[in-house]
Amino acid sequence: MNEAIRPGPGQPSQAGSPLRLSVIVPTFNERDNVVTLVQRLDVALAGIAWEVIFVDDNSPDGTSDVVRALSRQDPRVRCIRRIGRRGLSGACIEGMLASSAPVAAVIDGDLQHDETQLAKMLDLIENGAAELVIGSRYVEGGSADSFNQQRLGASKFATAVAQRVLRVKIADPMSGFFMIRRDRFEQLAPRLSTQGFKILLDVVATAEGDLRVIEVPYTFGSRLHGESKLDSMVALDFLGLVLAKLTNDVVSLRFLLFALVGSIGLFVHFSVLFVTLEAFELPFPEAQACAALLAMTSNFLLNNFLTYRDQRLKGFGILRGLLLFYLVCSVGLLANVGVAFSVYDQEPIWWLAGASGALMGVVWNYAMSGLFVWRKR
Ligand code: GDD
Ligand code: MN
Repeated sequence: MNEAIRPGPGQPSQAGSPLRLSVIVPTFNERDNVVTLVQRLDVALAGIAWEVIFVDDNSPDGTSDVVRALSRQDPRVRCIRRIGRRGLSGACIEGMLASSAPVAAVIDGDLQHDETQLAKMLDLIENGAAELVIGSRYVEGGSADSFNQQRLGASKFATAVAQRVLRVKIADPMSGFFMIRRDRFEQLAPRLSTQGFKILLDVVATAEGDLRVIEVPYTFGSRLHGESKLDSMVALDFLGLVLAKLTNDVVSLRFLLFALVGSIGLFVHFSVLFVTLEAFELPFPEAQACAALLAMTSNFLLNNFLTYRDQRLKGFGILRGLLLFYLVCSVGLLANVGVAFSVYDQEPIWWLAGASGALMGVVWNYAMSGLFVWRKR
């Protein structure tokens, strides 16, 4: 199957000429699209020394095996397999940082982007006309016809928000198809968010107008194999990115979600306390213990589902995580009470003391959960 991708006799071999373009392809369950994509790149980039780096988040369908099989035949193909992590943005960033060509492109692995634009895009960067070239659906000549009404509406709405709130002057900042000078990308990389999907918007917003941009039209195609991985959670990701950029990374969506889950926990706690006291007539200490345990458990589950959905614990990991979470929260409670006492000692204002304690508790729980329960691998 790999015969077709080797540089044929008609095409000049690029061996020896300096690498000009690294193509980064984030993948999750794209096994059936890999070979076709590389074949198409080979045609679209004839005469150019290029490499392609697939960044695969340990796809259960074995995408990385297919990539590596290709790689053995064709050294232009490389594979980065990430374990215990998910996220389109993070994958693109890692791929671009692992590349060595002066120019890097990002293209989806499902053939929905138009790889025949790549040579033109490279030309615009190499001749100095632009530092960032975006494949755009929303400039004259481009289209997103394969989107359904709902998806098109969401995409246009997010674009409008990005343009107004983040003052991004680009027709299609939600595009996942672009090319950038690697030195410019390396400068921005430390300030980019690895969470979420909106890598291009992040790049443009972080550059704050200091990037020469050209948009080229293309038609967003339909998927041949597999399915889209973007769900309604993308909206949350988008919100997080807007928030982070607006507040200079002070407010993170993760922390807000963690605090939100914490306040739901408070509600759970009081409801359980009420029910166990009133309906089951448990003595107060037992009722309080029941309520605390249930609140911690529901907080853990909600955080696992929402706050840390990209690092969701599964199987046996859930049990281990839950026990660790109990531990973290118990120490958090001590810290909470300790701080509240000492504030009250200085200034006997009950709500100030209570709020200080609660803030200490949530910050502690957040920091320690990130370190021990949902730690990055
Ligand atoms: N490594 C990695 N990790 N890759 C991922 C992940 C992930 O968690 N999620 C998705 N991908 C890969 C997919 O395998 C695919 O190659 C590419 O990222 C795009 O994902 P799709 O699931 O096909 O997204 P889409 O088609 O709905 O949306 C695309 O088009 C939008 C409009 O241009 C993406 O490019 C969006 O970023 C873009 O906004
Ligand atoms: Mn897609």
